[in-house]
Amino acid sequence: MTDPGERLRTSLAADNAAERATASAGTDFDSPIAMEALRATRVLHAADQDPFPPPVRTRVITVANQKGGVGKTTSAVNLGVALALYGLRTLVIDLDPQGNASTALGVEHSVGTPSIYDALVGDNSLAEVVHPTGASPKLRCIPATIDLAGAEIELVSVVAREYRLRRAIEGYLQALPEEERPQYVLIDCPPSLGLLTLNALVAGDEVLIPIQCEYYALEGLGQLLTNIDLVRQHLNPGIAVRTILLTMYDGRTKLADQVADEVRNHFGELVLTAVIPRNVRVSEAPGYGQSVLTYDPGSRGSTSYVEAARELAERGVHLPPLDPGRAMVTPPVAAVYGNHATEEDGS
Ligand SMILES: Nc1ncnc2c1ncn2[C@@H]1O[C@H](COP(=O)(O)OP(=O)(O)O)[C@@H](O)[C@H]1O
Ligand SMILES: [Mg+2]
Repeated sequence: MTDPGERLRTSLAADNAAERATASAGTDFDSPIAMEALRATRVLHAADQDPFPPPVRTRVITVANQKGGVGKTTSAVNLGVALALYGLRTLVIDLDPQGNASTALGVEHSVGTPSIYDALVGDNSLAEVVHPTGASPKLRCIPATIDLAGAEIELVSVVAREYRLRRAIEGYLQALPEEERPQYVLIDCPPSLGLLTLNALVAGDEVLIPIQCEYYALEGLGQLLTNIDLVRQHLNPGIAVRTILLTMYDGRTKLADQVADEVRNHFGELVLTAVIPRNVRVSEAPGYGQSVLTYDPGSRGSTSYVEAARELAERGVHLPPLDPGRAMVTPPVAAVYGNHATEEDGS
């Protein structure tokens, strides 16, 4: 594992080296604006120079936290764009009826647009509802329309309701030739622990939990972890929390540091070294149908998401093998009905 301070030092060293290089070249690139432009250039042209390593297998990552406003959508979108810009085929699945991830990726999601609803409740394959994005040719998105708001109820009577998303993803991945198959699938969950989030936990190989560096950050987390345990015991033996991402960190407050320390003490190496700062460009970007990486590539919000995505990708090079119970085989439906606890909305 990376020494916690190492990445920051490396990053600062790179910035300093760049500053020295531009200074010695006799240019006046030493102003903050010029440095930002330099960072922007680095982000935008990175794919050619410094691509991320591909994962050993497709990683299906469920971005979950039943609290609203902690940065799930922002993280799913910006990590997705970063992975794609740095060379990895990525699919973002919007599983929140609000459709915020679809908005941020500039993907149409008005009623009637082919969406994740048609695959979960209807019989469409993911291939029929996947959309391209403007951010990168390597990034695709399955949008969510407001129809999805009814899915929690409509799914109740559907056979193997907890497995709908997993089956859809498996079918999609298997049908694609390897060179087109997404290397990363990021699922953006709604802020609840209902049937949609359950579907995402059953579909994923791993969970990424964004934690906001705020006072009540850890509240409710126990319930999410308990639910993940229940899913592991009864529905998806391979699922595990593999990544924690600290979001909306405000370096001016002592509280942010305290929360960050507490989360690191509790979750250890699961916590990415990269921390996402509170940055106004991050919150402005969705208003333009963009990720912060494309909206303002040189901003701290953008570079921190690139760093986080790089760490995520580096960790994907050495993954434990999938649990044999999980490896691309959907368990018989009968095996999961009976005694598993049903999920409750955590809000
Ligand atoms: N790093 C950040 N800096 C500033 N604002 C942020 C940041 N991350 C998220 N936000 C804003 O906070 C709000 C909640 O984020 P969002 O990703 O939608 O949370 P969730 O999906 O968990 O509900 C949004 O308005 C978003 O633009
Ligand atoms: Mg959201």
